[in-house]
Amino acid sequence: MVRKKKVTRKIARRPKTAEIKEELLLQPPRGMRDILPADQIYWQQVRRLAEKAAADFGYRRIDLPLVEFTNIFSRGIGEGTDIVEKEMYSFSTKGGGKVSLRPEFTAGIARAYIQHGMNVWPKPVKLYYIGPCYRYDRPQEGRFREFFQFGCEALGEQDTVLDAQMIQMGWRIIYQLGIKNVKVKVNSIGCPACRKNYRNLLVHYFESKKQKLCIDCKKRLETNPLRILDCKEDKCVQVKASAPQSIDHLCEECRAHFKELLEYLEELEIPFELDPALVRGLDYYTKTVFELISISAGEEESRKNALGGGGRYDGLVKMLGGESTPAVGFSLGLDRLVAEMKKLGARAHKEPKPRVFLAQLGAFAKKKSLKMFEALERSGVIVAESFGRGSLKSQLKVADRMGVELTLILGQKEAIDGTVIMKDMASGNQEIIDAAKVVDEVKKRLKK
Ligand code: HAM
Repeated sequence: MVRKKKVTRKIARRPKTAEIKEELLLQPPRGMRDILPADQIYWQQVRRLAEKAAADFGYRRIDLPLVEFTNIFSRGIGEGTDIVEKEMYSFSTKGGGKVSLRPEFTAGIARAYIQHGMNVWPKPVKLYYIGPCYRYDRPQEGRFREFFQFGCEALGEQDTVLDAQMIQMGWRIIYQLGIKNVKVKVNSIGCPACRKNYRNLLVHYFESKKQKLCIDCKKRLETNPLRILDCKEDKCVQVKASAPQSIDHLCEECRAHFKELLEYLEELEIPFELDPALVRGLDYYTKTVFELISISAGEEESRKNALGGGGRYDGLVKMLGGESTPAVGFSLGLDRLVAEMKKLGARAHKEPKPRVFLAQLGAFAKKKSLKMFEALERSGVIVAESFGRGSLKSQLKVADRMGVELTLILGQKEAIDGTVIMKDMASGNQEIIDAAKVVDEVKKRLKK
């Protein structure tokens, strides 16, 4: 008898689905973070005061998409800028469109101005915005990859008074938030006509000191020599100390514009300082540029982490294909404002506290409570509850901890009778009231 040999075939073990999944990282990408409920009172305060200032100065809200076609930013902000060259989150869509997450709002505002024919709206067109921006920068204190901006833009008006008003608004919002140690740095980088001469002078100056510049600034000498003035490298700081300054080379019109701005700022009693090295990191600026800094952290630290910045950009709309449109604006960094408020112990937004607690006992009463809660809430009374709890004792404990003035108790009997017990928490007195009149009775008691 021939014995059959048992053949065992090795079957490669398939990885279980769980094994082929990528590791789950329970955190957001680097430079991004959650804003938890405990911090929201600061964010709310910033948004509230900023939006109030915008309304007071006649600005209307605009919301833009988070994503624009990349060339809106590369053309608007400038090819040679750090933002466009190194910091944009850019990708291609399935349809092949090249898009980027917005690193700022101003270029998108100019796009929207042209697209919606805002040139025929009454001038100046005053818009404000609030929302997240994205820059792939090296995260550090006060510098995130996802951060939030609030900003105002006025398009169609060249009067210097608007430049002054922008600074006034930014300064007022920051001051009202309790950040009192604020300084405004201002400069004028002229118009394309006078900037051309100034640029030549700068190139001439830096060419003669090229060996002493950092690698990036050697490149900037070719692409964007004005940005050398903004470099924080020690050796460049020394070289630029004796560089020609833009305000000494302004044309007549730009000089008059700048002089007038400084007069307005003096009149407004806003503490400002001329900063000839202030050129800002975006190419669209003309004439006025400014930054708002808190000096509580020391001058150098503050410059790196400006609370806000802005300026005039008379050429941007035309550069994107619209008609020549003077414009000016500013943006504040909300993340930095919140951090500064917390550091200084500034007042946060006060959430209104509930003054009434609604307790219930039994399935029927719980159903009735939902309706009673809605009636009170709709009439403007802030009510607290803990409907998930069954025991009356534990609900009353919660009411006590919240420090409410009145507690309404709806038990099985009251729910059937159409009544409710109202307990005054200070005196402990209780009375039975008609459930249909609960809103009036509660309001009467709270007024007392
Ligand atoms: P910006 O100076 O690039 O200007 O940004 C404005 C503000 O946004 C800064 O002062 C800062 O508070 C905040 N910010 C910028 N980058 C970051 C970051 N990585 N992390 C945290 N906060 C940041 C603009 O964006 C111009 N669009 C301003 C403007 C409006 N000019 C005319 N109109």
